[in-house]
Amino acid sequence: MAGLFISLEGVEGAGKTTLIQKMVAYFGRCGKEVLLTREPGGSELGKKLRGIILNAEEKICPTAELLLFLADRAEHTETCIAPALAQGKIVLCDRFIDSTVAYQGYGRGMDIDRLNMLNALATNDLKPDLTILLDLDPEIGLARATARNIAQNLTVSEGRFEAEALEFHQKIRTGFLTISRREKRFLVVNAAQDADAVFADVLKALERLLEEKESE
Ligand code: TYD
Repeated sequence: MAGLFISLEGVEGAGKTTLIQKMVAYFGRCGKEVLLTREPGGSELGKKLRGIILNAEEKICPTAELLLFLADRAEHTETCIAPALAQGKIVLCDRFIDSTVAYQGYGRGMDIDRLNMLNALATNDLKPDLTILLDLDPEIGLARATARNIAQNLTVSEGRFEAEALEFHQKIRTGFLTISRREKRFLVVNAAQDADAVFADVLKALERLLEEKESE
């Protein structure tokens, strides 16, 4: 069986981490091999890039920021995601191409068609089989993310984007929803529900997808 590529997207504090833990446990029970990874920072090069990209104290111009995300994605796709899929693994990726379109495109105002082309270049046209969008009002998400940062003793420097105004995050939410209407691979989940209800919605889609894959 060929691998299965699942990406997770959403505004800050939408609950991706909790959902991912539940998905990893589920695939474990099914006896599937999983590569759990994230952007930015999934590859060795990416770990270094992540430190640069997310350091809020150092100002980076929007184009340089975009190209760093894309460099991270190119290396990550080539050295981590594609090999894992070739080995038949399930790849769970915390953010992927749609974050660039939502944050740099809808958030920062960069040209969407150009971003789609650059994403295609960085990924060698690879797209997820399933993209789970945890949709949430950013006001709730940011409150959750701030509480988490305080609990984990993180400084502002850990969250360049968390420091942006609410209006920026609202554009991102709208951006994700707009992309989700254009691409069939999306499952949009109401992330204002509790974590078990979110997972129940995801599970239905996963079971369908696994059945489809196994009959291939
Ligand atoms: P991270 O700490 O991983 O945030 P989260 O837990 O919300 O996923 O930081 C990644 C940040 O980078 C997040 O604010 C989204 C942003 N981002 C982009 O702006 N463009 C991109 O292409 C990617 C992958 C992430």
